[in-house]
Amino acid sequence: MERPRREAQLLLMAYLNKDELWLMSHALDTVADADGLKTWVTRRQKNEPLEYITNKVSFYSQEFFIKEGALIPRPETELLIDEVLKRVDAESTLTIVEVGVGSGIISILLAQHLPKAKIIAVDISQDALQVARRNMELFSLSERIALREGNLLDTVTEKIDLLVSNPPYIADDEPLESNLDYEPDLALFGGSIGDEIIQKLLDETSSRAIPMFACEMGYDQKEKVARYLDGEYTSLEFYKDLSGHDRGFVLTLEKNI
Ligand SMILES: C[S@@+](CC[C@H](N)C(=O)[O-])C[C@H]1O[C@@H](n2cnc3c(N)ncnc32)[C@H](O)[C@@H]1O
Repeated sequence: MERPRREAQLLLMAYLNKDELWLMSHALDTVADADGLKTWVTRRQKNEPLEYITNKVSFYSQEFFIKEGALIPRPETELLIDEVLKRVDAESTLTIVEVGVGSGIISILLAQHLPKAKIIAVDISQDALQVARRNMELFSLSERIALREGNLLDTVTEKIDLLVSNPPYIADDEPLESNLDYEPDLALFGGSIGDEIIQKLLDETSSRAIPMFACEMGYDQKEKVARYLDGEYTSLEFYKDLSGHDRGFVLTLEKNI
């Protein structure tokens, strides 16, 4: 545990359902029923992520529901959303498809910022879809986002204007930190090389002539993506995360979507 004092505060706030200000002004109070809190602390000692214990995660300045079975949203994924929003008019009526919806954060943010877009969100995992469904209800977006269980784009017959994805992109045998043990393999591992799902999505983009594809990727996958596409596009722009690592790309097959 890197920040034990801070994490204890976060656990306490979530357990009591109180905010920081309340905690500071009640610093000398005792917790009446602390058994549940002790269980939470024990879980955290075993390296279970704080977010799975509290069932809360903050993303793009909003609080989402999360539980084991769906990937905990990462701050760098906010950049993928920014890259899309930079290129799409707020009034646009595009059909957007997200592959690998997980907790639902990307589709929810896009639905909030693009009120006229039609959004279809797919995941292969029922556990993830359950979490996504709960978040769509929480943000009153169940009517705006069509959730589907399926493999990649198998369940999508509609014409797609924009494909977006934060797919699993880690190689199957890559050794990972122990806190990742709690997160679903389906959300992390993309195949023996790691970029297999990205390649399948690139194939779909080209075979269905999808005008734009925005995708998160591993820090070392830029060259492979560029090589795989071999110049078959109008533009291919890579973006970096806040640590300066290559983190994703936006592929455009047509100039104006
Ligand atoms: C890295 S997580 C991303 C979750 C969420 N979009 C986010 O950014 O936090 C990848 C998601 O892709 C889903 N997934 C993996 N393989 C898939 C496939 N073949 N078809 C559809 N979804 C898939 C996983 O279940 C997981 O929810």
